[in-house]
Amino acid sequence: MTHAAPYPPFVLPQRALRVGAAAAAPEDVGAIGHIVFAGQTLDPLSGLSLDRAAALGFKAQPGETLVLTSAEGPVNVLIGGGDPGAVTTAVLRDLASYLARAVPGLDRLALVLPRTELPIGDAAAAVVEGAALARYVYRIGTDGPEATLASFDLIVSDEAVSDAATGATRGLEVVKAAKLARDLAGTPGGILTAMKLAGVASELGPQAGLEVEIFDEPALVELGCGGLLGINLGSAEPPAMIKLVYRPDGEPTGRLTLVGKGIMYDAGGLALKPGDEIHATMKNDMSGAAAILGAMTALRALGCRAQVTGYLMCTDNMPSGSALRLGDIVVMRGGKTVEVINTDAEGRMVMADALVLATEEPVDAIVDIATLTGAAMRTLGTEIAAVLGNNDALLDQVKAAAERVDEPVWELPLARRYRPELNSPIADLRNMGGVNAGSITAALFLEEFVAGKPWVHIDIAGTAQSGAARKWLNHGPTGFGTRLLLDLALNFSAA
Ligand code: BES
Ligand code: ZN
Ligand code: MN
Repeated sequence: MTHAAPYPPFVLPQRALRVGAAAAAPEDVGAIGHIVFAGQTLDPLSGLSLDRAAALGFKAQPGETLVLTSAEGPVNVLIGGGDPGAVTTAVLRDLASYLARAVPGLDRLALVLPRTELPIGDAAAAVVEGAALARYVYRIGTDGPEATLASFDLIVSDEAVSDAATGATRGLEVVKAAKLARDLAGTPGGILTAMKLAGVASELGPQAGLEVEIFDEPALVELGCGGLLGINLGSAEPPAMIKLVYRPDGEPTGRLTLVGKGIMYDAGGLALKPGDEIHATMKNDMSGAAAILGAMTALRALGCRAQVTGYLMCTDNMPSGSALRLGDIVVMRGGKTVEVINTDAEGRMVMADALVLATEEPVDAIVDIATLTGAAMRTLGTEIAAVLGNNDALLDQVKAAAERVDEPVWELPLARRYRPELNSPIADLRNMGGVNAGSITAALFLEEFVAGKPWVHIDIAGTAQSGAARKWLNHGPTGFGTRLLLDLALNFSAA
């Protein structure tokens, strides 16, 4: 069955951003940002008097910017820095995003990197991330070029040039990873099918030094991946399991397996979702898979020393005459049977097969990431992701990574007292608990498939999407989890 598809072609946006560091701004720069801390009276590098800025109401608080135009030469932008004692990489990332937003028409920016207690490279990476991610745009429109960022230069002292340049380059790798995740999550489900995503992985993976293996429908049948196959039953598009492997040069410091929910579009299956606005965002229900692909494409460039395996579990979740019925029982990888109470609880079904596969190989830790439950969004809102797990040391590593990259997480209890809610009278498990504590029962379902291995689950249902432009986020997919997973892998040690 083939239809003439009215969709635009699937093309990943190409963006050329140059970053650098030097003692002075390049000739052609459009704007130079100066971070001004509270209490500071003169910007030492620019020589700008801050008395006049203060007279205009500029209080040097974070989020404040003052654009100073002149007849010729670059525009100067004062960026409120707040308390100089409170500067972290998260603060610098935010401050750079304010610069990018203060001069939206200019695509060549520079920033005087303030001297802080932070390592110069970390500071440089953070500001590159903040400026570049704030300028992220993804449009499939007919209206001219995107207002993106062409160059971003850091102005530092002579001694700091080399460290700042290295940090800026690392920041650029992180930016590319996060932008890839955003691009994929923002692409409508009709364009980016499971097999198209497999194509993206097959193209980008080898370029990034990853082994890529695509498991198509017959291969999934062979593996007995009944969760993924079951959810795919209603779809006209075939499923795909994408396996990525990163092997470091030399003996790995540990083995980490990442499992991502790749629901290309979640219609709810026969438990059809209503036609409201939130469900128009369900093209992003593969944000977990996208975060893993994004993160893994940067591992080699950033010198990761752990071995990292990724499983992206991809299909859409559609209603049709062949779709899984409510009450059907499927056999998962490993043999457990699951009674499908609700076809809209599909994420845990597709993830479970991969969790089992992960436990069948040597592995020190398993981390899964998924837009799994509306309950996670209700509990923690759109800025904090839920984490649950069976191993404190691994939970600590995930929390530390989240903290370092400013992708906040909060732990919910893996309360096994609720486990009986998943009991089925006729199968090993049912795929849904009661009406309450939905994020916890979803995690308890996943735990059934990890065979006691150290495991953490990250529920990004709330954080995958931003309703508005704010700091380095724009309206739409956030790429949340990409930088977290990348940082986790780079700092990973066997729990
Ligand atoms: N993809 C959704 C979760 C979701 C909801 C993400 C809202 C982002 C915003 C997931 O597949 C789902 O439908 N979950 C159900 C589970 C329920 C049927 C047990 C939910 O959260 O309502
Ligand atoms: Zn879903
Ligand atoms: Mn669903």
